[in-house]
Amino acid sequence: MSPLALGVLASGRGSNLQAILDAVAAGKLDAAVRAVVCDVPDAFALERARRAGVPALFVDPKGPGGKAGFEGRMVARLREHGVEAVALAGYMRVCGPVLLGAFPGRIVNIHPSLLPAFPGLHVQQAALSHGARFSGCTVHFVDAGVDTGPIIAQAVVPVLDSDTEESLAARILRQEHRVFPLALQLLAEGRLRVAGRRVLVDGRPPASDTDALLNPPAGA
Ligand code: GRF
Repeated sequence: MSPLALGVLASGRGSNLQAILDAVAAGKLDAAVRAVVCDVPDAFALERARRAGVPALFVDPKGPGGKAGFEGRMVARLREHGVEAVALAGYMRVCGPVLLGAFPGRIVNIHPSLLPAFPGLHVQQAALSHGARFSGCTVHFVDAGVDTGPIIAQAVVPVLDSDTEESLAARILRQEHRVFPLALQLLAEGRLRVAGRRVLVDGRPPASDTDALLNPPAGA
């Protein structure tokens, strides 16, 4: 099977892009990152792409044609590079019909909460303020909503009494860097089937009761 031809969209520092590039380089993700597209000209993600020898493309969201024009230009660049699936790695825009229509069922996003709790922005602070005992991150297929698509994989992170927004975000980010490449590998292997809102994973043993987490932990 040839590697999954991946395009990555990012708007910022690109640590999840780096995790993807590293997983590919380590042979843990059977994909080739064909292009990185940013909507911010000085996004560090572009520099990470250049360092990895991957085409680093800025597409100006303020160009002609509004959102549809912008997405059309991105789709054209992704197609030029042979992209067949798209990873949103800190891409700070909601996908519109042009992008969604170009890669139906082939766009995945990483979000730093346990969806459907806390979609949108400032979600680590929202988890803290709400008093959640666990947060985490979610990889999901992208639909027209904000962080609403079918869930592929999640990693659970306990919230500590001592947590600040920054410390919780950092702990979640470490799990993002694990779970995003894992989810993309399942996509690359063709193991994911969407059934309504659920994503079924072929050929993997199911999680068991012993995978349940308690916070606070049960006493000795
Ligand atoms: C991550 O927390 C990701 O979950 C969210 O945006 C952040 C991007 O971080 N969608 P980075 O640019 O990958 O470092």
